[in-house]
Amino acid sequence: MDTIVSGTRPTGPLHLGHLHGALMNWIRLQDKYRCFFFVADWHALTTDYLSPQRIKANTVEMVLDWLSVGLDPKRCVLFRQSDIKEHAELHLLLSMITPVPWLERNPTYKEQIREMEGRDLSTYGFLGYPVLQAADIIMYKANKVPVGVDQAPHVELTREIVRRFNQIYRPIFPEPEVLLTETQRLPGLDGRKMSKSYNNAVFLSDPPKQIDKKLSRMITDPARVRRHDPGNPEKCPAFELHQIYSTPQEIAEVSQGCRTAKIGCLDCKKVMIKHVITQLEPFQEKRADYERRPSYVEDVLAEGNRSAKKVAAKTMEEVRDALSL
Ligand code: TRP
Ligand code: SF4
Repeated sequence: MDTIVSGTRPTGPLHLGHLHGALMNWIRLQDKYRCFFFVADWHALTTDYLSPQRIKANTVEMVLDWLSVGLDPKRCVLFRQSDIKEHAELHLLLSMITPVPWLERNPTYKEQIREMEGRDLSTYGFLGYPVLQAADIIMYKANKVPVGVDQAPHVELTREIVRRFNQIYRPIFPEPEVLLTETQRLPGLDGRKMSKSYNNAVFLSDPPKQIDKKLSRMITDPARVRRHDPGNPEKCPAFELHQIYSTPQEIAEVSQGCRTAKIGCLDCKKVMIKHVITQLEPFQEKRADYERRPSYVEDVLAEGNRSAKKVAAKTMEEVRDALSL
């Protein structure tokens, strides 16, 4: 059975974009592969080293969401990167053989430096981000890495590092492949891509009232200034959610109603809002249940850490041996 590894930086509670992006995909994968999913809290530090205080609480929030949408600790290994110190050791050893220019030409690196202005990212740790990611992946001898297209360069770099390692020392590691997550872009409330940092997200843990309030205000076709102005669903971000959530019949009805100004935007959205709330309801019930158990998340992580640690310790024995350490 092939092995899968993927991680996420703990940014706090997850939103609909995460659900339709990574999460649904991970849930499908857990029965087909041997899966390791982890909280990349060291990676969070590469950009947030000045204010690490939220990382631990964000980890708990994120894992609660993982569990409530159906990641099942019986079917996959859920662990925390910073608890498996072997990742740090492998990162160090890989850093010895990774040429700096490989890191400097990484497109994600250049883009992030540009985008995250205001933060000093001229650090050694930030440059080495993909080396740590390579360590995460090959520690478990992953064959496949399910990530979005933005992460593909990191996996490519992992493959290059693996080739170099295998060639210099001994062929220990398989070259992992990207398992590209097909993500339909999920629009946020303002029409831009849903993202916590844009403040346009519907969180999985938002209470129904809040979901209703947020989505009722979601941007629509700007041509519909007044109720009797006809609109074009293709120019409407709220309609993109209809296409994900509503039945074919509902979609046909609202587009017809929109084009002829027979329905108002609020009535139109109501149909879709109901579906979003219904989808999240069972997750929120599970979440409430887990929240009542005081150390549930920590227990799940402790168990996952144990499984991860066993594999990591074995890999590191091979690695040290290959390096004559
Ligand atoms: N860089 C990934 C992200 O920002 C997180 C990550 C860290 C990761 N290590 C990984 C993803 C290993 C896949 C495999 O989303
Ligand atoms: Fe969008 Fe519906 Fe309003 Fe048309 S009626 S603009 S599809 S919200």
